[in-house]
Amino acid sequence: MATRQRAFANKMIDILNGGALNLAVAIGYRTGLFDTLAVFDSPQPAAVIAARAGLSRRYVAEWLAAMATGGILEISRQDTGESLYRLLPDQAACLTRSAGSDNLAVYAQEMPLLTVLAMERVIEGFKSGRGIPYSHYPQFQAFMSELANAKHEKLLVEAFLPSIEDGALVSRLQQGIRVCDVGCGEGVALLLMAEAFPASRFVGIDNSAEALKAARSTLQARGLANLEFMDLDAALIDDTPRLHGRFDYVTAFDAIHDQRRPLRVLRGIRRLLAGGGIFSMVDIDAHSEPADNLQHPMGPFLYTVSLMHCMPVGLQDDGMGLGMMWGREKAQAMLTEAGFERIRILHMDFDPFNIHFLCYG
Ligand SMILES: C[S@@+](CC[C@H](N)C(=O)[O-])C[C@H]1O[C@@H](n2cnc3c(N)ncnc32)[C@H](O)[C@@H]1O
Repeated sequence: MATRQRAFANKMIDILNGGALNLAVAIGYRTGLFDTLAVFDSPQPAAVIAARAGLSRRYVAEWLAAMATGGILEISRQDTGESLYRLLPDQAACLTRSAGSDNLAVYAQEMPLLTVLAMERVIEGFKSGRGIPYSHYPQFQAFMSELANAKHEKLLVEAFLPSIEDGALVSRLQQGIRVCDVGCGEGVALLLMAEAFPASRFVGIDNSAEALKAARSTLQARGLANLEFMDLDAALIDDTPRLHGRFDYVTAFDAIHDQRRPLRVLRGIRRLLAGGGIFSMVDIDAHSEPADNLQHPMGPFLYTVSLMHCMPVGLQDDGMGLGMMWGREKAQAMLTEAGFERIRILHMDFDPFNIHFLCYG
């Protein structure tokens, strides 16, 4: 085999092993095996690990072998020849539930989940060009909400809002302004803001009945009087005059790139703003041209998540199908086309995978 072909064959072998390990890591995370392994401070045989986890010894043994040959667990031998396994602290710090924001195992769920939910429909889509409805991905929506919730809870009030206009927005929120979050999902961002800024009033817009049901039930439990949710297709905001000019601050977190009609949505959002109002659009940090994304540390992962979810949901009903990696150049052009007069692109040290478009009406 020629040298370059051999090098590529080796890369393909790494890909096959990496894909298999992603699946095995996802299974280990779901079954709690990493958390169990983190409890032991010495190498253990499969039977002891399985017994502590309350799982089948044979299944656990096969999984441990995959983890050890993949370099995720340390493997050694007893005098009897039996294999012993240990999760080292550096690995535990990225794989266990107690790892908090360093927990990368949670992301290993994404590809297996999307494969189960959508692989056949996506393959059909290659032939038909048709999109896939949001309703096809109920578990994925819940998974994404869980990830977003963890991020908002950590960053929104402490880091994101204070980064806007050197803290001036926070002062206005403390005094009392009107805020709308478009594509609010289960309302995590709004619930946090409404609690932190009781003098301000908040409205969430989404068109997912399940997300709004969850949002309203949390709202009721928390007893906040300054927040309400509206069931509305964001593409119809432009045609809903009673909402126009009603908000001083509008947000859209991770909610524009999978819109079917993103330009209409952005035009509507601009209409929501009162004089002097501002709009924060937070979306994936990437360039619009794939050739400019070769240095992106998670390019293949994010393009594939987009292929499996964001792009097909955006193609539904002859939608535009922007995809998650639509990129800052396309985003900036569309925000300008929607009528925003000034757009600042802000990098966020506390959230390096996203970018903040701060837009003035
Ligand atoms: C990826 S989620 C982001 C949720 C939330 N902003 C967050 O950061 O957790 C995108 C949300 O946009 C909502 N959405 C998608 N298309 C919409 C539309 N046309 N009108 C209103 N909401 C929409 C979805 O139901 C979903 O809740």
